Amino acid sequence: MPLSSVANCVDERDIPFYESVGNECSMFEHAFRQRLPLLLKGPTGCGKTRFVSHMAAKLGRPLFTISCHDDLTSADLTGRYLLQGGETRWVDGPLTRAVREGGICYLDEVVEARKDVTVVLHPLTDDRRLLPLERTGELLEAPDDFMLVVSYNPGYQHILKSLKPSTRQRFLAMSFDFPPPKVERDIVARESGLPDDQCAALVNLAASLRAMKGQDLEEGVSTRLLVYCATLIAAGVPILEAARATLVEPLSDDADVQEGLMEAIQATFG
Ligand SMILES: Nc1ncnc2c1ncn2[C@@H]1O[C@H](COP(=O)(O)OP(=O)(O)OP(=O)(O)O)[C@@H](O)[C@H]1O
Ligand SMILES: [Mg+2]
Repeated sequence: MPLSSVANCVDERDIPFYESVGNECSMFEHAFRQRLPLLLKGPTGCGKTRFVSHMAAKLGRPLFTISCHDDLTSADLTGRYLLQGGETRWVDGPLTRAVREGGICYLDEVVEARKDVTVVLHPLTDDRRLLPLERTGELLEAPDDFMLVVSYNPGYQHILKSLKPSTRQRFLAMSFDFPPPKVERDIVARESGLPDDQCAALVNLAASLRAMKGQDLEEGVSTRLLVYCATLIAAGVPILEAARATLVEPLSDDADVQEGLMEAIQATFG
């Protein structure tokens, strides 16, 4: 189906808000149209999940999201026989549903999944686009409107938790990062309802807090946390209280690091 005719059926109001920062929306559309799988990399809270929800809604395709973890089995993706009312019945997992029904299957934090699970994706993510279901004996061919999207945060990656080259080299890949200041200000304002000038001050503050990453902090403050902070301030919470609960406590348990963050916050808002 041509993309324009898919998109025409969609009510703009049903599309989750996503402010693009580069060519990511058109690259996603190309990947969808060319039936190529997509890998998104980026720090926590920078907009990866929102982007995928936005694109799925824009393309008018259902979204099947799976959060990957150590104990995820291939049956959690593909499906299993379940005992129901004395009978065993096959129940499709989310990946199989997306392949049967057409849609976007999103595997979040894919590096958390074991390698024997990710190899299930191999025949689906090359030109075969096949999903073999050993338990039912079926061999499903993905329809044109099936797309696989995976994401992970390279910041948490260590050698045992990386994708095999034979897995990662099956995907188009894009790096995400925190948006440039003007875009981030607009996002925070739109998501929280806080006036632009206060959002701009928060975004400036984020830049100095992010500069502390590495020395004492594992990750810089996310756009998500800026939105939380702005939302509390817009709801009437005093700025320093809102900042402590959103920009200090979630980032570190270390008293010295917290003090350093609080000093930077007080220098902006104190
Ligand atoms: N470009 C953007 N447009 C609109 N909202 C955004 C954007 N980037 C970030 N946000 C805001 O930041 C929040 C967090 O984004 P999201 O949940 O997509 O992060 P993520 O990258 O998926 O993080 P994680 O790796 O922790 O899952 C969103 O709920 C939204 O409010
Ligand atoms: Mg996410």
